[in-house]
Amino acid sequence: MPTDLSPIDKAKYAAARRATGYVESGMRVGLGTGSTAAWLVRCLGEMVRDEGLRIKGVPTSARTAQLARDVGIEVISLDEAKWLDVTIDGADEFDANLNLIKGGGGALLQEKIVATASDQMVVIADISKQVETLGAFPLPVEVIPFGWQTTKTLIEETLIGLDVLGRSTTLRMNGERAYVTDEGNHILDLHLNRIGNARQLSLVLNQIPGVVENGLFIDICDAVVIGFGDGRVELRDIHKGSVEESRFDFFEADNLFTDISE
Ligand code: A5P
Repeated sequence: MPTDLSPIDKAKYAAARRATGYVESGMRVGLGTGSTAAWLVRCLGEMVRDEGLRIKGVPTSARTAQLARDVGIEVISLDEAKWLDVTIDGADEFDANLNLIKGGGGALLQEKIVATASDQMVVIADISKQVETLGAFPLPVEVIPFGWQTTKTLIEETLIGLDVLGRSTTLRMNGERAYVTDEGNHILDLHLNRIGNARQLSLVLNQIPGVVENGLFIDICDAVVIGFGDGRVELRDIHKGSVEESRFDFFEADNLFTDISE
């Protein structure tokens, strides 16, 4: 039970804790990457240890694989799992249709493959990730290292004809060197400011030679669990059209979610 968390970490923790409600014994679970997903992995690890939860986890990055093993979750590959019951992951932005920008943590490729191979994808996020229109967060695009500068130019030229407000692209760095993903690729961050047609942009980007995948998740996410700094949690399900509210009480010893919908 974490204590002395900042409001943002309380929000992430509350969302992650609520999302564990999607996980049952016997499930194959996609485990996301990032600070919010790390809370989820720790919560699931506690449930494995203290409550006898039996799950097989498919991590979306080497970082998450390490954390999952550290907290006692059995880790298998996607090819061993073949198909997953649910994937729970963070996001950099989500809109009202639950379309997402992901990849701020550099793991978008595995995240997209794993989420797509799941019956359900649930996003966990603090409220700051909610946007009216995607694009304020730079869109990550994974590109192969060979000819990446040419790919960058092609992307910038392609953006001229698209409904976006900015066109500058930057190579993601890790100190002095180009960032390298788990798949050995680089990431270009596209500073678009506003994405008018996310579906079209995603399709067009993936047609450019050298582009492996982009961080737009269109029609992949089924539900979002939004955490607030005071422990409130809102669960929105795109298919049911439902919104549920609850509250995590940080002063209580256990997992107490109170229904505050009435
Ligand atoms: C990782 O590549 C990303 O897609 C993350 O899911 C995203 O950046 C959210 O991360 P945080 O939970 O740390 O904000």
